[in-house]
Amino acid sequence: TQNILFDCDPGSDDAIAILETFAHPEAVKVLGMTTVGGNGILKNVTRNLQHLLWFLKQETPMAPGQAEPIIKNLKNATEIHGENGLAGPTFPKEADQYPIANNNGVTFLHQIISQSETPVTIVATAPLTNIALLLKVFPEDRQNIEKLVIMGGTLSAGNVTPAAEFNFYVDPDAADIVLRAGIPTVLCGLDITNNTGLSADQIKSLENRGPASHLAYEILMPYFQAEQGEGLKRAAIHDLATITYLLDPTVYQGHQYGLKVNNTWGELRGKVEIDDKATQKNVLVLDQVDIERASQLLLDSLAILDKQ
Ligand code: BDR
Ligand code: CA
Repeated sequence: TQNILFDCDPGSDDAIAILETFAHPEAVKVLGMTTVGGNGILKNVTRNLQHLLWFLKQETPMAPGQAEPIIKNLKNATEIHGENGLAGPTFPKEADQYPIANNNGVTFLHQIISQSETPVTIVATAPLTNIALLLKVFPEDRQNIEKLVIMGGTLSAGNVTPAAEFNFYVDPDAADIVLRAGIPTVLCGLDITNNTGLSADQIKSLENRGPASHLAYEILMPYFQAEQGEGLKRAAIHDLATITYLLDPTVYQGHQYGLKVNNTWGELRGKVEIDDKATQKNVLVLDQVDIERASQLLLDSLAILDKQ
């Protein structure tokens, strides 16, 4: 079992990644979850996470982290994920009552990492603001972090600008701090995540399979329509790659690099760059994915949840 902390901004694709995660408690134990301003404002993505954990009947502790990037103002993605950050499903009032820890997400992560008897893996599917602050404020925690598995960046074309992917564009200062921290890191960038997802037919097949599949259907229909508007032929469930990698790394291939992130204010802002000064190649950038196996793992995971 891998012990993980999961930092996210649900977010349609975050939500699907969360569903896949909780279908495999024998492989992945979630010690805690945090939210960060990203796809929607912090209040909304935090409420969306409460709703998802309520739906999954979890008792996983969660805490809201940073509302804004370290330096610049938040740019959100409500045009893709809906005004509330998670278009599609509705949840009953009681889902709002899912408990939230009363400390800030950064301190919350620190407490869990510093108390864990075995090293923890951090999964991050959002701007890296919380994770960068954690590494800066509590540098001793690095010793107890096994690895970081991040959705963000791209070595090919971006999705916010030609140079940059959304999570890295929103907080490039945080992304730069995290990639250069020297921690073993797996980067699930657009290079593979544009191919991690479901076709329209696969999404339609989820409608009447069971409660979890139906929730995924409700989330993915509007998301797919928004992404089709951006020219994609299947729903690219970007954040899912992090969890699929943890569950079965053989679905992917990649190469090791030492990387930095451009944080200038020009047109290269948020771009992933090779760091010639890096003393180690600590980042595994995934560049190939077996799409069929990745999709099948998601469909199987939803079927597991449907039976619970
Ligand atoms: C990333 O940006 C967000 O909109 C998604 O949730 C994902 O984390 C893709 O660029
Ligand atoms: Ca996300």
